Amino acid sequence: MSLNELMPGLLHVASKDDAVDFEAWMQAELRVVESALEVWVPADAPAGLGEAMRYGVLDGGKRLRPLLVLAACQEVGGSREAALRAAVSVELIHAYSLIHDDMPCMDNDVLRRGKPTVHVRYGEAQAMLAGDAMQALAFEVLTPEAGVDPALQARLCALLARSAGHAGMAGGQAIDLASIGMPLDERALRDMHRRKTGALLQASVLMGAACGRCEPRAWDALSDYGAALGLAFQVVDDILDVTQESHTLGKTAGKDLHANKPTYVSVLGLEAARRQAADLRDRAQDALRRSGLAGTATLSQLADMVVERDN
Ligand code: IPE
Ligand code: IPE
Ligand code: MG
Ligand code: MG
Ligand code: MG
Repeated sequence: MSLNELMPGLLHVASKDDAVDFEAWMQAELRVVESALEVWVPADAPAGLGEAMRYGVLDGGKRLRPLLVLAACQEVGGSREAALRAAVSVELIHAYSLIHDDMPCMDNDVLRRGKPTVHVRYGEAQAMLAGDAMQALAFEVLTPEAGVDPALQARLCALLARSAGHAGMAGGQAIDLASIGMPLDERALRDMHRRKTGALLQASVLMGAACGRCEPRAWDALSDYGAALGLAFQVVDDILDVTQESHTLGKTAGKDLHANKPTYVSVLGLEAARRQAADLRDRAQDALRRSGLAGTATLSQLADMVVERDN
């Protein structure tokens, strides 16, 4: 079924005027993303699985990855239907990664997005299955029978799979667990962060760009933008872990030190970590200037948001 039949009205693209007012653009797109997730994440999966899936992905989260997809697509005048599907699919992969990240066998966290974690609420087996099902659903959403060109579907699947698997998020998470208590040098730390967090954020930008026509120069620049923003995001996550309270973060503060995880703060110190985040933001902004794209204000403001956020 096409997206328009499924969700009439959601294919409306925020106008250029909306894009000038970043806050208005963001609020409008967040409403669209929430509605799309609401439609696509099933309530009727058997034996309570649907409830655990919906608990894990609806009602919470900054939705940064979907916003990056939609902003990049708008930048290249791409297919709105493809971009909305891509936005939902990256958020599903992200939410699944959080559910598994919080499990006792990984970070053993009890609080996420201001609520008890999925395994605390539904048990470990259901949390594992909810993550598994969300990963599969991400690819189902990306491959409709109609509405998105099959070649684009394949390209989006490849970008998402590469960023989520062994070369990206899952590989980075493996390094993360293998590095507990280890004195990682800056290079190894950067590699871990790029994989576990940066890859999916970079893929979000590129999936949006893939939805339209993007010249090689713009593609390479958007790739650099996504890489810098993606690494900055995890550097800031490391900083917030030591500078914010749990109620602001919606997750347990101070966990990295407690768990003896190497982070930008533990390896470089807080001030140097802050400088790194600022440098990476500059690199992201430079890349946008090099892109040759006409109006990159929304992507630029998203990069600012990544570094200036408090949760
Ligand atoms: C948290 O990601 C996990 C990391 C990759 C650092 P977010 O900070 O984007 O989490 P939500 O989606 O807003 O909850
Ligand atoms: C998580 O990194 C990265 C993921 C792939 C989920 P963290 O373990 O630092 O994320 P938080 O701090 O629990 O959100
Ligand atoms: Mg972790
Ligand atoms: Mg964690
Ligand atoms: Mg963290």
